[in-house]
Amino acid sequence: MNMAVQALAARTPRLQCRGIGKRYPGVVALDDVNFEVLPGEVHVLFGENGAGKSTLISIIAGANKGDGKLMLDGREVDLQSVQHARSLGISAVFQEFSLVPQMSVADNLFLGAEKTHGGRLARGEMQRKAREALDSLGFDIDPHTLVQDLTRGEQQMVEICKAFQHELSVLILDEPTASLTENEKDKLFALVRKAKANGVGIIYISHRMHELQEIGDRMTILRDGRLVATVPASIGHDDLVELMTGRQVEQVYPHMDTLPGKEVLRISGLHTRSGLVCGADLTVRAGEIVGIAGLVGCGKSEVGRACFGVERIAAGEILYKGQPFVARHPQEALRAGIFYLTSDRKNEGLLLQHACRDNLSLSALHRKPVARGWWLHKGSERSWSAELAERVGFPSARLDRNAHEFSGGNQQKVLLAKGLTQPTDLYIFDEPTVGVDVTTRAAIYRFFKELCEAGAAILLISSDLSEVMNLSRRLYVMREGQVAAELTGSDINEQSVLSHFFE
Ligand SMILES: Nc1ncnc2c1ncn2[C@@H]1O[C@H](COP(=O)(O)OP(=O)(O)OP(=O)(O)O)[C@@H](O)[C@H]1O
Ligand SMILES: [Mg+2]
Repeated sequence: MNMAVQALAARTPRLQCRGIGKRYPGVVALDDVNFEVLPGEVHVLFGENGAGKSTLISIIAGANKGDGKLMLDGREVDLQSVQHARSLGISAVFQEFSLVPQMSVADNLFLGAEKTHGGRLARGEMQRKAREALDSLGFDIDPHTLVQDLTRGEQQMVEICKAFQHELSVLILDEPTASLTENEKDKLFALVRKAKANGVGIIYISHRMHELQEIGDRMTILRDGRLVATVPASIGHDDLVELMTGRQVEQVYPHMDTLPGKEVLRISGLHTRSGLVCGADLTVRAGEIVGIAGLVGCGKSEVGRACFGVERIAAGEILYKGQPFVARHPQEALRAGIFYLTSDRKNEGLLLQHACRDNLSLSALHRKPVARGWWLHKGSERSWSAELAERVGFPSARLDRNAHEFSGGNQQKVLLAKGLTQPTDLYIFDEPTVGVDVTTRAAIYRFFKELCEAGAAILLISSDLSEVMNLSRRLYVMREGQVAAELTGSDINEQSVLSHFFE
């Protein structure tokens, strides 16, 4: 134990979990987990998709009931609800957001804690307070905006801001940076450090391994619902992955050496009606991965959405396989051989109340019987969907379960598998590995490589800098709706990418 860890161990834990268990039909999500968070400590929870991280924090945050005991500052508590936990100082940013899309940012921030004046809602005051709260965190978001009009990254910022509205003892962050770029992550980490200095105990979940050492003090590793070990955060990358998977690590990023072929996509002077893209130009050729990086709100997602017919085009031209192309609806884009993976799986991606198998076959309906490439219709739909699932590392034995029963990472895999239900020439992946663990990530990247080798073009939109830098043959950096730079070869490095994020 190093000195810092020893010093931490001397204090009464902010939170202690004793023998926490949770069963779902056919799954032991948590089995006798003992876990504690000390004042001023960032305790990382780490583990593969489905290991039980979110289940554990949902119990700690009062959103879920489990077996075992919870002690807050040495006293046993029996949490009845998220509001109850919050009133005791336990506040969480959940992996699946809890904002109400039809309400404004300000209303969401004060939901359940509305300011009133003589029985009437004090709107002006709420707007002002919301503005103050967002400003103090350095988030540039208008409190009047409806949450449904925000990007996923912006919604994440509002969730974070909401968690900081309360007096805190324990702060829980479940993948808070999943859709944030470096700059926004730095802001969040500054806040976390401030909370630490005030003696808050922080539980931090992330699959982005380089973040963990930067912010963490200790780590607890879960595997299949069991606690494997609690170790100092300074543990090496390979040891950590081995604890997590029980296996040795493999190469995460594949070596890509396909030579690009014909131009598949050319975007010139693109403006969207939303105004978020204002004069973007880019090209993508067959057999190459082209990346787009940029801050939250720079318009990178909207470029992809415009190609897929989800975002309205105001001006400019899209050439697809050499022909002018405007998709008025996603179905049109799909029929033309364009697949778009949304970054918003909850609202656009999955039918959560339906079996994963149905989610897969629905997207292939208008194609049946499928008969090209390896999406060959092989006898029954059963083996077909099992094959798709295996391709992306989804537990195929559980395909008949509803999508909402799966961990965040596994839901992402179902979305990805949907892209394999039909012949596709252009893949547009928007945050494809949000919430996906490293081993699956490696599998997904290998799969991208295979798609390229088979002649597909890939446009990769990502806020994960290491992902987009390591996979892209060419990388566009967007800023304020335009392409600020196109980088290739050794110019694709962190310093040059970041320098183009800002003016
Ligand atoms: N409502 C539910 N019904 C049935 N099973 C569930 C439910 N919620 C979670 N599970 C199961 O419990 C296990 C743990 O899931 P959990 O969401 O805690 O994983 P996680 O560690 O957060 O994974 P990820 O990194 O993908 O977010 C998984 O096998 C999951 O399918
Ligand atoms: Mg989770």
